[in-house]
Amino acid sequence: MDFHTLKFEDGKLSILDQTLLPGEERYIELDNIQDVYDAIKTLKLRGAPAIGVGAAYGAVIAALNAPKDSKEAFFEYFYNCCDFIASSRPTAVNLFWAIRRMKQKADSMKAMDIEHIIEGLEAEARLIEKEDEEINYKIGENMLGLLKDGDTVLTHCNAGALATSRYGTALSVFYLAKQKGINLKVYADETRPLGQGARLTAWELSRSGIDVTLICDNMAAMVMSQGKINAVIVGCDRIAANGDTANKIGTLGLSVLAKHYGIPLYIAAPTPSIDMECKSGKDIPIEERDALEVRTIKGIQVAPENIKVYNPAFDVTPADNITAIVTEKGIVYPPFEINLKKLS
Ligand code: MRU
Repeated sequence: MDFHTLKFEDGKLSILDQTLLPGEERYIELDNIQDVYDAIKTLKLRGAPAIGVGAAYGAVIAALNAPKDSKEAFFEYFYNCCDFIASSRPTAVNLFWAIRRMKQKADSMKAMDIEHIIEGLEAEARLIEKEDEEINYKIGENMLGLLKDGDTVLTHCNAGALATSRYGTALSVFYLAKQKGINLKVYADETRPLGQGARLTAWELSRSGIDVTLICDNMAAMVMSQGKINAVIVGCDRIAANGDTANKIGTLGLSVLAKHYGIPLYIAAPTPSIDMECKSGKDIPIEERDALEVRTIKGIQVAPENIKVYNPAFDVTPADNITAIVTEKGIVYPPFEINLKKLS
């Protein structure tokens, strides 16, 4: 891949600003907590695993910027910054998972001097990034076993390299198939309101020479009814203990269609995205975003200026509509409330 989603160097987090893609490839450097928070909130850095890795590096930046005159002041600043980063977006559990892991790492080093605590935190964030890359590769391998040469897959939003440290979750299988000379085709949903499918999935797959066709969200039923789709593969922001899965708004509709047309729906799921503390989808907080995202496209007004808008960023696909949850540890089939427990 000739781009990086995020890279930590010399105390700064370099990210590809995803709000500018596909028109402009601009990397920005984050070296303070407000900028890390804003980057996640405004979707410059987005996708559940990438948010988690970015938050972990955000915790390192917090430690670097913390007062060093006393350990008490250092830890107070560090924990406050961690909580601030965690308040940037509510749905992807990877954010809270990564922040909790960084806090636990800090707790375990309380007896050390500050310099070594910072080193330990950076090592932990790098480990989280490396683990994410390995997880995604394994998800791709496991997913490949569910497909056959020549298959066409529909995906939604962007669960690709741009949403992770590398490879992606839902898109990892396409990179792997290409490496192995297996022919897979992709239909990418546009994914209104913010167009992650059109702007990001179409960008990264076509750039890697993967056969991708873009459709508007309302064309999914048509391509399924025409027998063009062999499987639907999407990522996830949070999976509840019973298998209910929060992912980008529109996934629920796709799941209903897939069930209707007898097409398997696979969730590409790193285990850090599974939240066993949420019993069902009802417990997953769903982010609502600004009305402007619906009333405008790239700043151009496409609806009356003050029209009422409802803009949930995610929906919950009921476990019943999911064929399998594909993790790095293996493929989980229903009944999910029993089989997800066996993963940990
Ligand atoms: O609002 P976004 O762009 O962060 O939403 C992203 C998604 O819904 C992805 O499908 C999900 O985070 C999985 S990314 C591997």
